[in-house]
Amino acid sequence: MLRIGMLTSGGDCQALNAAMRGVVKGVFSKRDDVEIYGFQEGYKGLIYSNFKMLTSRDFSGILTVGGTILGTSRQPFKLMRVPDKDGIDKVEAMKHTYHKLNLDCLVVLGGNGTHKTANLLREEGLNVITLPKTIDNDLWGTDMTFGFQSAVDIATDTIDRIHTTATSHSRVFIVEVMGHKVGWVTLHAGIAGGADIILLPEIPYDIDVVVDAINKRAKAGKNFTIIAVAEGAISKSDAKLSKKELKAKMAKKTYPSVAYEIAEKIQKRTNQEVRITVPGHTQRGGSPCPYDRVLSTRLGAAAANLILKKEFGYMVGIKNGNIVKVPLGEVAGKLKYVEPDSDIIQEAKMTGISFGDK
Ligand code: F6P
Repeated sequence: MLRIGMLTSGGDCQALNAAMRGVVKGVFSKRDDVEIYGFQEGYKGLIYSNFKMLTSRDFSGILTVGGTILGTSRQPFKLMRVPDKDGIDKVEAMKHTYHKLNLDCLVVLGGNGTHKTANLLREEGLNVITLPKTIDNDLWGTDMTFGFQSAVDIATDTIDRIHTTATSHSRVFIVEVMGHKVGWVTLHAGIAGGADIILLPEIPYDIDVVVDAINKRAKAGKNFTIIAVAEGAISKSDAKLSKKELKAKMAKKTYPSVAYEIAEKIQKRTNQEVRITVPGHTQRGGSPCPYDRVLSTRLGAAAANLILKKEFGYMVGIKNGNIVKVPLGEVAGKLKYVEPDSDIIQEAKMTGISFGDK
C-alpha cells in the first residue's frame, strides 16, 4: 500500500486542483494500491489530524476549477519546536499525524512560507515532495510557479479595460497589482497591458521621475497615463530607511495601500485627476489559464514519478522548459526577485516604459 498525504497551504491560486490531479492521476497510472489523505486547510489539517480519505474520482473534473478542494490557510504558527501558546508543539503534532497514519510521503503545495515548513519537516525525517504554487512567482529554484500566468492574465485584463476610460477622461490611472514583496506580476501585466509607468519593489521609484514622465506625456499630447504599481513598490527615500525606521513610518501611514500614497503625490504635483483600481484577490480567482493547466499537470505528474521512485526531499520546478527536482534545502527561505538589470527591464525601457528610476 502506498499512503500519500496531501495539503495546500498559504494563499490559494489557480491550478492548485490541476496540480493535485496531476499527482493523483500519475500515481494511479502505475499502482492501484494507493490511499490519499487530504489534509484540510493546509498545515492545520496535519497538526490537528483533520483529513479526508480521497479516491481518484475526487480528482476528476477539477483541472479547470480554481481554489483548492482541500481548503488552505496561512501558516497558523511560528516555526517553533516548543509548545505554542495553546500548549501544542505544532511540529511534533504534524510528525505524530504523519506517523500515526503510517504515511509514505507528504505532498505539499505552497509558496515561500510553506516551503520553510516543508523543509523543516524534511529535516525532521518526513518524506516530503513540494509543488511551487503562488501568483507571486517568487519561489527560488523554478522559473515559473503555477498561478502566476493566470494572475498576469487577470491583471492585464484590468489594465486593458482601464485604457478606454483613461483615454476618454484625460486622467492618470493607477492599477495596483498583487505580488507581495516582488514585482513579477506587475512587470508582466504592465508590459502586456501597455502601462506607461511600472513601479516595482525591486526598483525604488523617485516621485519626481514619475511626475516628469506624466508631464512629458501631457506635453506630447497624450492625455492620459496608466501606471501599474506593485503592492510592494517603495520610494527611493523609503528604501534608504532601516527596517526599523520603515516599520515605524508604515505604522503612522493612513493610506489603505501604496497606490493611494502615490496617487496623492501625483495629484498634488501634476494637478491631473488620478483614479485607482485595485483588482485584489480577483487576481487569484477563477479558472487557471491554459499555460498554468499545462504547467501544473506536468509538475504533478513529475511529482508522482518521484513518489513512485521513492525520491523525496525535493520541490518539482521548471527550468528552461524542462522539469527539474530541486533539493528543498535550497528552496526554503529564498525569494526570487526581478533583477533590475535584466533583459526584460531593459527591453521594456526601450519601448518607452518608465520605471520611475531615471
Ligand atoms: O502570496 C499571494 C498573495 O496574493 C500576495 O500577492 C498578496 O500580498 C497576499 O497573498 C495576500 O494575502 P491574503 O490573501 O492573506 O490577504
